[in-house]
Amino acid sequence: MRYASRMTTPSVPPFESLLSDRARIGWGFPVGTARPTVDALYEFGGGYPDPASFPYEGMVDATARMMQAEGAAAMTYGEPQGYRPLRELVCEKYAKFENMQAAPENIIVANGSGNALALAFSAFVDPGDAVIAEAPTFSGSLNTIRRHGPQILDAPVDDEGIVTDVVRVRLEALRAEGRRCKLIYTIVNFQNPAGPSQSLRRREELVALAGEFDTLILEDDAYGELRFEGETLPPLYALDREGRVIRAGTLSKILGAGVRLGWLCAPREMIPAFQGFLFGGGVSPFMSRVATYYLRDHMVEHVHRLIDVYRAKRDAMLRGLDEVLAGSGAQISRPEGGFFVWIRLPAGTDPRRLAELATQARVQYTPGPAFFASGGGEPFIRLAFSYEPPEKCYEGARLLARAILAARRT
Ligand SMILES: Cc1ncc(COP(=O)(O)O)c(C=O)c1O
Repeated sequence: MRYASRMTTPSVPPFESLLSDRARIGWGFPVGTARPTVDALYEFGGGYPDPASFPYEGMVDATARMMQAEGAAAMTYGEPQGYRPLRELVCEKYAKFENMQAAPENIIVANGSGNALALAFSAFVDPGDAVIAEAPTFSGSLNTIRRHGPQILDAPVDDEGIVTDVVRVRLEALRAEGRRCKLIYTIVNFQNPAGPSQSLRRREELVALAGEFDTLILEDDAYGELRFEGETLPPLYALDREGRVIRAGTLSKILGAGVRLGWLCAPREMIPAFQGFLFGGGVSPFMSRVATYYLRDHMVEHVHRLIDVYRAKRDAMLRGLDEVLAGSGAQISRPEGGFFVWIRLPAGTDPRRLAELATQARVQYTPGPAFFASGGGEPFIRLAFSYEPPEKCYEGARLLARAILAARRT
């Protein structure tokens, strides 16, 4: 009897009264990133990289080469800021893909860019502070921001990315109250979830606003290398002359999310502020070496392969959606890169009915509300084309599009 009663889950856990204030702020918010749904036939939910594109043999070879060359160092604690050759490689990647200059001293390695972003929020955001974030924005970041307890002020996104006129209005309103924005969080390339890349004009305006209103920008770029068409634009970090931009990056989308390697690139004097929240002996000295050995030899060729892989998936998904939804009033994004298609559902669509019909068709997607800090996402859904092969992107998109038509209120 006693045993049985101990096994029931109480609605208020016994430790709740002992939680720290920090943990209490975020209690109840979703934790971590989900894995692909087992019973979905068409997994368009999370931004999972394509398993068929992982360089298995190359990683086996890189591991063997690395272990022969420096196995003992890989098996012990590493530099707190991260394995230096990996930080050098990140700088080389920036120079090659974006013509951006940074030094290894500007880079701190983290457990994926999700963790890197959390370091930046921890370093700068206290409960009650004001931060500006795009609406919609990446749900994972939104939950991490929420956990830090700030007031989140929305700035909408249009075809040119974050609407800087609204950012200005928000910053002016804060100034009028005698307050200051702690940071502006923005996803510059193939914005997750809405898809646009920030135009050069908006990039310049945002950096100028950060200077005028004495705040910081947290520039999240998880997908920049995966550009299928269009022109690569300068990162905010490269446009900034005042040390106001922190840039987050990751190997998740160009090597594999399981390597869990991401970083922040920031003014070097700022690095200790992040390092204080990264207790431990350097982020995975072992994986950092394997990834470095692989990418040193294969980065450009592998990224070019991935661009072809993901472009084909995007095209297949858009074809499936267009064939069924033409003339329905649905608005479908056409991202020039990245992993996601964003749909404004036709007027009168019942989101609950759509969820039921999509479940019957075994199509997984992410409902819009997950991406809005202050509500208002019901008319939207996000589809990831990254995980399924092109045939399934096409078929699943058609099935979902039919479900969208059938979910209209009569
Ligand atoms: C915009 C954006 N930032 C950050 C991340 C975090 O990725 P990771 O922690 O795997 O580097 C993601 C993952 O989907 C993302 O879409």
